[in-house]
Amino acid sequence: MPGLAPGMAEARAMAASKWTAQQIPSQAGKTALVTGANSGIGYQAALELARHGAHVLLGCRNAAKGKAALDRLQREAPGASAELVELDMASLASIRAFAAAFAARNIPLDLLINNAGVMALPHRELTADGFERQFGTNHLGHFALTGLLLPQLLAAPAPRVITVASIAHRNGKIDFDNLQSERSYKPWDAYGESKLANILFAKELDRRARAAHSKLISIPVHPGVSTTNIFANGPGDKSVKAIAVKLLAPVFMQADDAGALPTLYAATSPEAKGGEYIGPDGFMEMKGSPKVVQPRPNALDQAVAQRLWTVSEELTGVSYPALN
Ligand SMILES: NC(=O)c1ccc[n+]([C@@H]2O[C@H](COP(=O)([O-])OP(=O)(O)OC[C@H]3O[C@@H](n4cnc5c(N)ncnc54)[C@H](OP(=O)(O)O)[C@@H]3O)[C@@H](O)[C@H]2O)c1
Repeated sequence: MPGLAPGMAEARAMAASKWTAQQIPSQAGKTALVTGANSGIGYQAALELARHGAHVLLGCRNAAKGKAALDRLQREAPGASAELVELDMASLASIRAFAAAFAARNIPLDLLINNAGVMALPHRELTADGFERQFGTNHLGHFALTGLLLPQLLAAPAPRVITVASIAHRNGKIDFDNLQSERSYKPWDAYGESKLANILFAKELDRRARAAHSKLISIPVHPGVSTTNIFANGPGDKSVKAIAVKLLAPVFMQADDAGALPTLYAATSPEAKGGEYIGPDGFMEMKGSPKVVQPRPNALDQAVAQRLWTVSEELTGVSYPALN
């Protein structure tokens, strides 16, 4: 770049190569489902997918919050195609009912965004099926949903499954003897385990799709640290982490629309590849633009991934015959 000091040209080129939502190719003709779409990262992902032409199903557990999100989306992206669907990721009955209703529509599902999540609930809670709520919602619910929607995904020309994990997977451990914190419950350990399970699942799904010569790709992502409701809804406003988050937010955190970029990149970029892990490129992956990042070795253990898959099939009663 003539006229620019050395270093500045490089900085400009780097900035130009940063991926933004403006680079999302047309999603016209595609159908996308986003779980937990009424707030935070899920809402922002749904908004951009709809803005770029996809028909987006907002999967929400609370009808009033879902309606408010749909109204907001239609205000922010006038003319976009979106609808609200009832989907409680903490209830296998709700997941089965949604999957059956979607199958009856006889349309392919191009994009499944496994996003809904709860974090560090102070006390051990159970889902409708008696699963520990974080493991049940964040992992088992999405394992069941993806498996039940597999026929509709495989009917799409280039299906993608995106699963939203977290930096918190780094401290996670899949303890098959205390998988649902039956023996002891620590809020952040249960969250870390569920987010580690997200990556193990997403990578195992991609391996199985490759082995079956399927066109489906599966990509785990993480949003860095993003200012959403998840902190107040989980650990609570007065927890040490929530207070730290408020103090550190301006420096280390990003808004929910930036937090949605790894999801959107993985869902739409022609460059994104199955099995890659996508997260922000900034300091300690806390914020920034999407890039391929490396999970910790605990997320790459294929023996654990396969055992988790089998246990998840047993617990949910959902299997993936097309990928076995
Ligand atoms: N924010 C971060 O810094 C961060 C970092 C790493 C990973 N993540 C991950 O990002 C994802 C989205 O979280 P967020 O940060 O955007 O938080 P958020 O604003 O609280 O959004 C979470 C969404 O999940 C929904 N949800 C929770 N339980 C559900 C259930 N049983 N059925 C259906 N929907 C349910 C929530 O619905 P309600 O409004 O009804 O509760 C909400 O729509 C989560 O998987 C989270 O683990 C976030």
